[in-house]
Amino acid sequence: MNPARNPAANPTVDYLRISLIDRCNFQCQYCMPEGAELEYLRKQDVLTDEELLTLLREVFIPCGFTRFRLTGGEPLLRPQVVNLVGQIAALPETRDLAMTTNGFLLANLAQDLYDAGLRRINISLDSLEPETFDRVIGNRGRTRWQQVWSGIQAAHRVGFDPLKLNVVVIPGVNDHEILDLAALSIDRSWHVRFIEFMPIGNGDLFGDKGWIDSETLRQQIRQKWGLMESRVRGNGPADVFQIPGAKGTLGFISQMSECFCDRCNRMRLSADGWLRPCLLNETGQIDLKTELRSGTPTGELRDRVQTLLNLKPLINYKQRESGTSGVYTRTMSQIGG
Ligand code: GTP
Ligand code: 5AD
Ligand code: SF4
Repeated sequence: MNPARNPAANPTVDYLRISLIDRCNFQCQYCMPEGAELEYLRKQDVLTDEELLTLLREVFIPCGFTRFRLTGGEPLLRPQVVNLVGQIAALPETRDLAMTTNGFLLANLAQDLYDAGLRRINISLDSLEPETFDRVIGNRGRTRWQQVWSGIQAAHRVGFDPLKLNVVVIPGVNDHEILDLAALSIDRSWHVRFIEFMPIGNGDLFGDKGWIDSETLRQQIRQKWGLMESRVRGNGPADVFQIPGAKGTLGFISQMSECFCDRCNRMRLSADGWLRPCLLNETGQIDLKTELRSGTPTGELRDRVQTLLNLKPLINYKQRESGTSGVYTRTMSQIGG
Protein backbone atom coordinates (compact mmCIF):
# COMPACT_ATOMS: atom_id res chain seq x y z
CA MET A 1 0.00 0.00 0.00
CA ASN A 2 1.05 3.52 -0.62
CA PRO A 3 2.05 5.02 2.72
CA ALA A 4 1.67 8.59 1.52
CA ARG A 5 -2.10 8.34 1.59
CA ASN A 6 -4.43 7.82 4.48
CA PRO A 7 -6.71 4.89 3.61
CA ALA A 8 -9.09 5.78 6.41
CA ALA A 9 -9.91 9.08 4.79
CA ASN A 10 -9.80 8.20 1.11
CA PRO A 11 -10.19 5.06 -0.96
CA THR A 12 -6.94 3.49 -2.08
CA VAL A 13 -6.36 4.33 -5.72
CA ASP A 14 -5.01 1.04 -7.05
CA TYR A 15 -7.13 0.55 -10.16
CA LEU A 16 -5.87 1.70 -13.56
CA ARG A 17 -8.10 1.75 -16.62
CA ILE A 18 -5.89 1.35 -19.65
CA SER A 19 -7.22 2.31 -23.06
CA LEU A 20 -5.50 0.06 -25.62
CA ILE A 21 -6.75 1.84 -28.71
CA ASP A 22 -8.99 4.83 -29.46
CA ARG A 23 -10.63 3.24 -32.50
CA CYS A 24 -13.90 1.38 -32.40
CA ASN A 25 -15.87 -0.78 -34.82
CA PHE A 26 -19.12 0.68 -33.47
CA GLN A 27 -20.28 4.26 -33.34
CA CYS A 28 -22.56 4.31 -30.31
CA GLN A 29 -24.65 7.46 -30.22
CA TYR A 30 -23.72 8.23 -26.62
CA CYS A 31 -20.05 7.74 -27.17
CA MET A 32 -19.06 9.02 -30.58
CA PRO A 33 -22.08 10.59 -32.21
CA GLU A 34 -22.75 10.30 -35.93
CA GLY A 35 -21.17 13.08 -37.93
CA ALA A 36 -18.71 13.89 -35.17
CA GLU A 37 -15.33 14.72 -36.62
CA LEU A 38 -13.20 12.35 -34.62
CA GLU A 39 -9.53 12.45 -35.21
CA TYR A 40 -7.99 9.08 -34.56
CA LEU A 41 -4.53 8.72 -33.16
CA ARG A 42 -1.71 8.01 -35.55
CA LYS A 43 -0.27 4.53 -35.09
CA GLN A 44 3.04 5.95 -33.93
CA ASP A 45 1.31 7.94 -31.19
CA VAL A 46 -0.16 4.86 -29.50
CA LEU A 47 1.91 3.39 -26.67
CA THR A 48 3.61 0.20 -27.84
CA ASP A 49 3.25 -3.03 -25.85
CA GLU A 50 6.79 -2.59 -24.61
CA GLU A 51 6.18 1.01 -23.47
CA LEU A 52 2.98 0.05 -21.72
CA LEU A 53 4.66 -2.82 -19.90
CA THR A 54 7.56 -0.59 -18.89
CA LEU A 55 5.11 1.94 -17.44
CA LEU A 56 3.29 -0.78 -15.56
CA ARG A 57 6.44 -2.39 -14.16
CA GLU A 58 8.46 0.71 -13.38
CA VAL A 59 5.85 3.38 -12.66
CA PHE A 60 2.34 2.15 -11.87
CA ILE A 61 3.02 -1.02 -9.91
CA PRO A 62 5.59 0.68 -7.65
CA CYS A 63 2.97 3.40 -7.04
CA GLY A 64 0.55 0.77 -5.75
CA PHE A 65 -1.60 -0.06 -8.81
CA THR A 66 -2.40 -3.79 -8.93
CA ARG A 67 -5.76 -3.91 -10.68
CA PHE A 68 -6.06 -3.19 -14.37
CA ARG A 69 -8.97 -2.86 -16.78
CA LEU A 70 -8.37 -2.81 -20.52
CA THR A 71 -10.68 -0.55 -22.48
CA GLY A 72 -10.85 1.23 -25.85
CA GLY A 73 -12.36 2.44 -28.15
CA GLU A 74 -12.71 -1.27 -28.66
CA PRO A 75 -9.79 -3.06 -26.99
CA LEU A 76 -10.14 -6.19 -29.12
CA LEU A 77 -9.12 -4.14 -32.18
CA ARG A 78 -5.64 -3.77 -30.74
CA PRO A 79 -3.22 -5.89 -32.79
CA GLN A 80 -1.91 -8.91 -30.83
CA VAL A 81 -4.25 -8.13 -27.95
CA VAL A 82 -4.17 -11.69 -26.58
CA ASN A 83 -0.41 -11.59 -26.29
CA LEU A 84 -0.54 -8.27 -24.43
CA VAL A 85 -3.22 -9.60 -22.07
CA GLY A 86 -0.94 -12.55 -21.34
CA GLN A 87 1.98 -10.29 -20.53
CA ILE A 88 -0.01 -8.07 -18.17
CA ALA A 89 -1.59 -11.11 -16.48
CA ALA A 90 1.88 -12.57 -15.98
CA LEU A 91 3.19 -9.58 -14.01
CA PRO A 92 3.49 -10.99 -10.49
CA GLU A 93 1.82 -7.93 -8.94
CA THR A 94 -1.31 -8.10 -11.13
CA ARG A 95 -4.16 -8.89 -8.76
CA ASP A 96 -7.05 -8.32 -11.11
CA LEU A 97 -7.20 -8.06 -14.89
CA ALA A 98 -10.46 -7.13 -16.58
CA MET A 99 -11.70 -5.85 -19.92
CA THR A 100 -14.62 -3.73 -21.12
CA THR A 101 -15.58 -4.60 -24.70
CA ASN A 102 -18.47 -4.18 -27.13
CA GLY A 103 -18.34 -7.95 -27.66
CA PHE A 104 -18.39 -7.92 -31.46
CA LEU A 105 -15.08 -9.77 -31.82
CA LEU A 106 -15.44 -11.82 -28.67
CA ALA A 107 -16.89 -15.08 -30.01
CA ASN A 108 -13.56 -16.06 -31.56
CA LEU A 109 -11.34 -14.57 -28.88
CA ALA A 110 -13.03 -15.48 -25.59
CA GLN A 111 -11.16 -18.74 -25.04
CA ASP A 112 -7.76 -17.29 -25.98
CA LEU A 113 -8.29 -14.30 -23.69
CA TYR A 114 -9.26 -16.55 -20.81
CA ASP A 115 -6.27 -18.80 -21.42
CA ALA A 116 -4.04 -15.72 -21.47
CA GLY A 117 -5.21 -14.82 -17.95
CA LEU A 118 -8.16 -12.46 -18.38
CA ARG A 119 -10.83 -13.33 -15.81
CA ARG A 120 -13.36 -10.51 -15.71
CA ILE A 121 -15.20 -9.07 -18.65
CA ASN A 122 -17.82 -6.33 -19.06
CA ILE A 123 -19.75 -6.30 -22.32
CA SER A 124 -22.03 -3.54 -23.59
CA LEU A 125 -25.53 -4.74 -24.43
CA ASP A 126 -27.92 -1.83 -24.79
CA SER A 127 -30.82 -3.78 -26.25
CA LEU A 128 -32.22 -7.24 -26.84
CA GLU A 129 -33.92 -6.05 -30.03
CA PRO A 130 -31.60 -6.25 -33.03
CA GLU A 131 -33.13 -3.15 -34.63
CA THR A 132 -32.84 -1.02 -31.52
CA PHE A 133 -29.35 -2.33 -30.91
CA ASP A 134 -28.26 -1.35 -34.41
CA ARG A 135 -29.77 2.08 -33.96
CA VAL A 136 -27.79 2.67 -30.78
CA ILE A 137 -24.50 1.48 -32.21
CA GLY A 138 -24.99 3.38 -35.46
CA ASN A 139 -25.05 0.29 -37.68
CA ARG A 140 -26.74 0.35 -41.08
CA GLY A 141 -25.69 -3.02 -42.49
CA ARG A 142 -26.58 -6.55 -41.51
CA THR A 143 -27.54 -6.60 -37.84
CA ARG A 144 -24.66 -6.86 -35.41
CA TRP A 145 -26.75 -7.96 -32.46
CA GLN A 146 -26.40 -11.69 -33.17
CA GLN A 147 -22.62 -11.50 -33.31
CA VAL A 148 -22.48 -9.67 -29.97
CA TRP A 149 -24.89 -12.17 -28.42
CA SER A 150 -22.62 -15.00 -29.64
CA GLY A 151 -19.72 -13.20 -27.99
CA ILE A 152 -21.61 -13.06 -24.69
CA GLN A 153 -22.49 -16.76 -24.94
CA ALA A 154 -18.86 -17.60 -25.66
CA ALA A 155 -17.68 -15.60 -22.64
CA HIS A 156 -20.21 -17.44 -20.50
CA ARG A 157 -19.15 -20.87 -21.83
CA VAL A 158 -15.50 -20.16 -21.29
CA GLY A 159 -16.13 -19.24 -17.66
CA PHE A 160 -15.63 -15.51 -17.27
CA ASP A 161 -16.81 -14.64 -13.80
CA PRO A 162 -18.15 -12.13 -13.13
CA LEU A 163 -19.63 -11.50 -16.54
CA LYS A 164 -21.19 -8.04 -16.56
CA LEU A 165 -23.52 -6.59 -19.16
CA ASN A 166 -23.55 -2.79 -19.45
CA VAL A 167 -26.76 -1.04 -20.51
CA VAL A 168 -26.66 2.72 -21.05
CA VAL A 169 -30.31 3.70 -20.57
CA ILE A 170 -31.54 6.07 -23.26
CA PRO A 171 -35.02 7.56 -22.84
CA GLY A 172 -37.29 6.70 -25.75
CA VAL A 173 -34.80 4.25 -27.24
CA ASN A 174 -34.25 1.30 -24.90
CA ASP A 175 -36.03 2.23 -21.66
CA HIS A 176 -38.98 -0.03 -22.57
CA GLU A 177 -36.63 -3.02 -22.26
CA ILE A 178 -35.55 -2.55 -18.66
CA LEU A 179 -37.47 -5.59 -17.39
CA ASP A 180 -36.34 -7.85 -20.25
CA LEU A 181 -32.75 -6.86 -19.67
CA ALA A 182 -33.04 -7.22 -15.90
CA ALA A 183 -34.46 -10.73 -16.43
CA LEU A 184 -31.09 -11.81 -17.87
CA SER A 185 -29.79 -11.85 -14.30
CA ILE A 186 -32.34 -14.41 -13.10
CA ASP A 187 -31.34 -17.76 -14.60
CA ARG A 188 -27.64 -17.13 -15.16
CA SER A 189 -25.10 -15.57 -12.87
CA TRP A 190 -24.84 -12.53 -15.12
CA HIS A 191 -24.55 -9.04 -13.69
CA VAL A 192 -26.68 -6.57 -15.58
CA ARG A 193 -25.76 -2.93 -14.98
CA PHE A 194 -27.92 0.03 -15.87
CA ILE A 195 -25.89 3.16 -16.50
CA GLU A 196 -27.22 6.71 -16.44
CA PHE A 197 -26.22 8.41 -19.66
CA MET A 198 -23.50 11.02 -19.15
CA PRO A 199 -23.34 14.06 -21.41
CA ILE A 200 -19.73 13.49 -22.37
CA GLY A 201 -18.89 14.77 -25.83
CA ASN A 202 -22.55 14.63 -26.80
CA GLY A 203 -24.58 16.56 -24.25
CA ASP A 204 -27.40 17.69 -26.52
CA LEU A 205 -28.16 14.31 -27.99
CA PHE A 206 -31.16 13.28 -25.97
CA GLY A 207 -32.68 16.67 -25.18
CA ASP A 208 -33.53 18.11 -21.77
CA LYS A 209 -34.12 14.84 -19.99
CA GLY A 210 -31.25 12.86 -21.38
CA TRP A 211 -31.12 10.30 -18.64
CA ILE A 212 -33.40 8.29 -16.37
CA ASP A 213 -32.43 8.04 -12.75
CA SER A 214 -31.62 4.63 -11.32
CA GLU A 215 -34.30 4.81 -8.65
CA THR A 216 -37.02 5.02 -11.33
CA LEU A 217 -35.64 1.85 -12.90
CA ARG A 218 -35.45 0.12 -9.54
CA GLN A 219 -39.12 0.92 -8.89
CA GLN A 220 -40.13 -0.82 -12.13
CA ILE A 221 -38.11 -3.87 -11.24
CA ARG A 222 -39.29 -3.89 -7.62
CA GLN A 223 -42.93 -3.89 -8.75
CA LYS A 224 -42.43 -6.93 -10.96
CA TRP A 225 -40.16 -9.17 -8.89
CA GLY A 226 -39.15 -7.37 -5.71
CA LEU A 227 -35.57 -6.19 -5.27
CA MET A 228 -33.11 -6.52 -2.46
CA GLU A 229 -29.76 -4.92 -1.84
CA SER A 230 -27.01 -7.38 -2.61
CA ARG A 231 -24.37 -8.20 -0.08
CA VAL A 232 -21.85 -8.33 -2.90
CA ARG A 233 -20.26 -4.95 -3.47
CA GLY A 234 -18.26 -4.49 -6.63
CA ASN A 235 -15.06 -2.53 -6.67
CA GLY A 236 -16.54 0.03 -9.03
CA PRO A 237 -19.20 2.71 -9.00
CA ALA A 238 -22.23 0.40 -9.19
CA ASP A 239 -24.79 0.00 -6.39
CA VAL A 240 -25.63 -3.68 -6.44
CA PHE A 241 -29.09 -5.23 -6.01
CA GLN A 242 -30.65 -8.61 -6.69
CA ILE A 243 -34.01 -9.98 -7.74
CA PRO A 244 -34.93 -12.45 -4.95
CA GLY A 245 -33.73 -15.92 -5.94
CA ALA A 246 -31.80 -14.70 -8.99
CA LYS A 247 -28.41 -16.18 -9.78
CA GLY A 248 -26.94 -12.87 -10.90
CA THR A 249 -27.22 -9.26 -9.76
CA LEU A 250 -28.38 -5.88 -10.98
CA GLY A 251 -26.00 -2.93 -10.78
CA PHE A 252 -26.93 0.72 -11.04
CA ILE A 253 -24.32 3.25 -12.05
CA SER A 254 -25.84 6.57 -11.11
CA GLN A 255 -23.26 9.19 -11.88
CA MET A 256 -25.95 11.75 -12.80
CA SER A 257 -28.34 11.34 -9.86
CA GLU A 258 -25.86 10.42 -7.19
CA CYS A 259 -22.25 11.37 -7.66
CA PHE A 260 -19.78 8.73 -6.49
CA CYS A 261 -16.62 10.80 -6.95
CA ASP A 262 -15.73 10.65 -3.26
CA ARG A 263 -15.24 6.91 -3.46
CA CYS A 264 -13.37 6.95 -6.76
CA ASN A 265 -10.53 4.42 -6.71
CA ARG A 266 -9.18 4.75 -10.25
CA MET A 267 -7.09 6.64 -12.77
CA ARG A 268 -7.04 6.37 -16.53
CA LEU A 269 -4.27 5.91 -19.06
CA SER A 270 -5.22 6.82 -22.62
CA ALA A 271 -3.97 4.91 -25.65
CA ASP A 272 -1.54 7.74 -26.38
CA GLY A 273 -0.15 7.63 -22.86
CA TRP A 274 -1.88 10.50 -21.03
CA LEU A 275 -2.49 9.71 -17.39
CA ARG A 276 -5.75 11.30 -16.33
CA PRO A 277 -6.82 11.39 -12.69
CA CYS A 278 -10.56 11.52 -13.37
CA LEU A 279 -13.00 10.75 -16.17
CA LEU A 280 -14.31 14.31 -16.08
CA ASN A 281 -11.28 16.23 -15.00
CA GLU A 282 -7.88 16.77 -16.59
CA THR A 283 -6.21 18.47 -13.63
CA GLY A 284 -2.58 17.48 -13.37
CA GLN A 285 -2.66 15.00 -16.24
CA ILE A 286 0.71 13.72 -17.40
CA ASP A 287 1.89 12.96 -20.92
CA LEU A 288 3.74 9.78 -19.99
CA LYS A 289 4.43 8.69 -23.56
CA THR A 290 6.26 11.89 -24.49
CA GLU A 291 8.21 11.81 -21.23
CA LEU A 292 9.18 8.19 -21.74
CA ARG A 293 10.20 8.72 -25.37
CA SER A 294 12.27 11.76 -24.51
CA GLY A 295 14.26 9.75 -21.98
CA THR A 296 12.85 10.95 -18.67
CA PRO A 297 13.95 8.33 -16.12
CA THR A 298 11.07 6.15 -14.96
CA GLY A 299 11.97 6.98 -11.33
CA GLU A 300 11.11 10.60 -12.07
CA LEU A 301 7.83 9.58 -13.71
CA ARG A 302 7.03 7.52 -10.64
CA ASP A 303 7.46 10.62 -8.46
CA ARG A 304 5.15 12.60 -10.70
CA VAL A 305 2.49 9.88 -10.66
CA GLN A 306 2.84 9.72 -6.88
CA THR A 307 2.28 13.48 -6.66
CA LEU A 308 -0.84 13.12 -8.80
CA LEU A 309 -2.04 10.30 -6.53
CA ASN A 310 -1.62 12.58 -3.55
CA LEU A 311 -3.72 15.20 -5.34
CA LYS A 312 -6.46 12.73 -6.22
CA PRO A 313 -8.62 13.13 -3.08
CA LEU A 314 -8.79 16.87 -3.73
CA ILE A 315 -9.70 16.26 -7.39
CA ASN A 316 -12.43 13.80 -6.30
CA TYR A 317 -13.76 16.37 -3.86
CA LYS A 318 -13.78 19.20 -6.41
CA GLN A 319 -15.38 16.99 -9.02
CA ARG A 320 -18.07 16.01 -6.59
CA GLU A 321 -18.77 19.69 -5.92
CA SER A 322 -19.10 20.48 -9.62
CA GLY A 323 -21.30 17.45 -10.43
CA THR A 324 -20.92 16.14 -13.96
CA SER A 325 -19.56 19.37 -15.33
CA GLY A 326 -16.02 18.85 -16.41
CA VAL A 327 -13.55 18.95 -19.21
CA TYR A 328 -14.95 17.28 -22.28
CA THR A 329 -12.20 17.81 -24.80
CA ARG A 330 -12.23 14.07 -25.48
CA THR A 331 -15.11 11.66 -26.09
CA MET A 332 -15.63 8.49 -24.04
CA SER A 333 -13.99 6.38 -26.75
CA GLN A 334 -10.90 8.60 -26.63
CA ILE A 335 -10.70 8.58 -22.83
CA GLY A 336 -11.40 4.87 -22.54
CA GLY A 337 -14.92 4.75 -21.09
P1 GTP B 1 -15.85 -3.01 -12.34
O1 GTP B 1 -16.71 -2.62 -11.20
O2 GTP B 1 -14.44 -3.28 -11.97
O3 GTP B 1 -16.43 -4.15 -13.13
O4 GTP B 1 -15.69 -1.82 -13.33
P2 GTP B 1 -16.55 -0.64 -13.90
O5 GTP B 1 -17.97 -0.74 -13.55
O6 GTP B 1 -15.85 0.60 -13.53
O7 GTP B 1 -16.33 -0.86 -15.45
P3 GTP B 1 -16.99 -0.46 -16.81
O8 GTP B 1 -15.86 -0.28 -17.76
O9 GTP B 1 -17.97 -1.50 -17.20
O10 GTP B 1 -17.70 0.91 -16.59
C1 GTP B 1 -19.07 1.03 -16.56
C2 GTP B 1 -19.51 2.46 -16.49
O11 GTP B 1 -19.17 3.03 -15.25
C3 GTP B 1 -18.89 3.39 -17.51
O12 GTP B 1 -19.68 3.42 -18.60
C4 GTP B 1 -19.04 4.73 -16.87
O13 GTP B 1 -20.32 5.21 -17.19
C5 GTP B 1 -19.01 4.41 -15.42
N1 GTP B 1 -17.73 4.77 -14.84
C6 GTP B 1 -16.64 3.97 -14.71
N2 GTP B 1 -15.64 4.65 -14.11
C7 GTP B 1 -16.11 5.89 -13.88
C8 GTP B 1 -15.57 7.06 -13.28
O14 GTP B 1 -14.41 7.09 -12.86
N3 GTP B 1 -16.35 8.15 -13.22
C9 GTP B 1 -17.62 8.16 -13.68
N4 GTP B 1 -18.34 9.26 -13.57
N5 GTP B 1 -18.17 7.07 -14.25
C10 GTP B 1 -17.44 5.96 -14.36
N1 5AD C 1 -22.58 7.74 -20.59
C1 5AD C 1 -22.57 6.60 -19.87
N2 5AD C 1 -21.89 5.49 -20.22
C2 5AD C 1 -21.21 5.54 -21.36
N3 5AD C 1 -20.46 4.61 -21.98
C3 5AD C 1 -19.95 5.16 -23.11
N4 5AD C 1 -20.38 6.42 -23.25
C4 5AD C 1 -21.17 6.69 -22.18
C5 5AD C 1 -21.89 7.83 -21.75
N5 5AD C 1 -21.90 8.97 -22.45
C6 5AD C 1 -20.23 3.25 -21.46
C7 5AD C 1 -20.44 2.13 -22.44
C8 5AD C 1 -19.43 1.10 -21.99
C9 5AD C 1 -18.57 1.79 -20.98
C10 5AD C 1 -17.10 1.60 -21.14
O1 5AD C 1 -18.89 3.15 -21.08
O2 5AD C 1 -21.68 1.56 -22.35
O3 5AD C 1 -20.05 0.00 -21.41
FE1 SF4 D 1 -17.25 1.85 -29.22
FE2 SF4 D 1 -17.72 1.42 -26.61
FE3 SF4 D 1 -17.86 3.87 -27.59
FE4 SF4 D 1 -19.71 2.10 -28.30
S1 SF4 D 1 -19.27 2.86 -26.17
S2 SF4 D 1 -18.64 3.51 -29.71
S3 SF4 D 1 -18.60 0.26 -28.37
S4 SF4 D 1 -16.05 2.65 -27.46
